[in-house]
Amino acid sequence: MTEDLTDIVADIVASMRSAPDRGRVAHYIPELAKVEARHFGIAIATADGQMVTGGDADMGFSIQSISKVFALTLAVGKVGDQLWDRVGREPSGTAFNSIVQLEHEQGIPRNPFINAGAIVVADVNLGGHQPRVAIGEMLRFLRYLAGDDDIAINEAVAASETASGFRNMALANYMRAFDNVRHPVELVLGAYFHQCAIEMSCRQLALAGRYLMLDGRHPDGGRVVSPRRARRINALMLTCGHYDASGDFAFRVGMPGKSGVGGGILAIVPGRASIAVWSPGLNASGNSQLGTLALEELSSRTGWSIF
Ligand code: DON
Repeated sequence: MTEDLTDIVADIVASMRSAPDRGRVAHYIPELAKVEARHFGIAIATADGQMVTGGDADMGFSIQSISKVFALTLAVGKVGDQLWDRVGREPSGTAFNSIVQLEHEQGIPRNPFINAGAIVVADVNLGGHQPRVAIGEMLRFLRYLAGDDDIAINEAVAASETASGFRNMALANYMRAFDNVRHPVELVLGAYFHQCAIEMSCRQLALAGRYLMLDGRHPDGGRVVSPRRARRINALMLTCGHYDASGDFAFRVGMPGKSGVGGGILAIVPGRASIAVWSPGLNASGNSQLGTLALEELSSRTGWSIF
């Protein structure tokens, strides 16, 4: 099995190297626009403890919206099912940064993975503390999950988004008017922008995602979340993890997945594998062009679609 997977990963890296269309690197966060589109990395952590990597698997990148999976995990740990009074669980069918539904839906975002939902989750995780406390908690959580202390925030990316994040400021202020953001907007966004600016490699991200393939357990035996909660997070990743392209991702890849505008995708095959891919060029829906293609090829070669 490991031998096969090694061959498959080598083939995928070779075909991604020569891919003609690498998508377009995100520009709305100026600092992200500096990353070169030629990169591609992949890392697969299997349930039996193997790690198979290829390409730029050890290069750090901005995890951006992938952080929303870990933020959600922390928030449900704090407030449990009460979170669902403030955030929905339905795909939005709109772009990740859309504001349109909030007016008709009383400031309650459709799901925790669109920006509006992730800002409410950041508000929950902030509690009454300063952003640095929430950010410290998130970093400790990721280091524990990945078993790697070398995970940090790229301050230039956080500053770049703080200076240019006008849509997120609008979303947060709008939800504050509905009392669905309860702490000062600058503090909530401070925590949110820094969480998005965390840098990890594909290897670290695949390791951090293992609890979602292992029914909520860390491979060291510790319980991160209950099996039911792990299933539910995977369900949300499948239905909402790629925004208005979630249906297409399920159709082509068939795995719970969460993308980020840094070009990363975390994909989970329950009971089998935690996979991270990274290539900075995005498709029209804001998801990694080659990352999606690579997962499609991996899914078809391994039969790992959950369907
Ligand atoms: O809030 C933002 O716009 C970014 N920090 C994260 C967006 C993102 O990653 C969307 N994913 N594809």
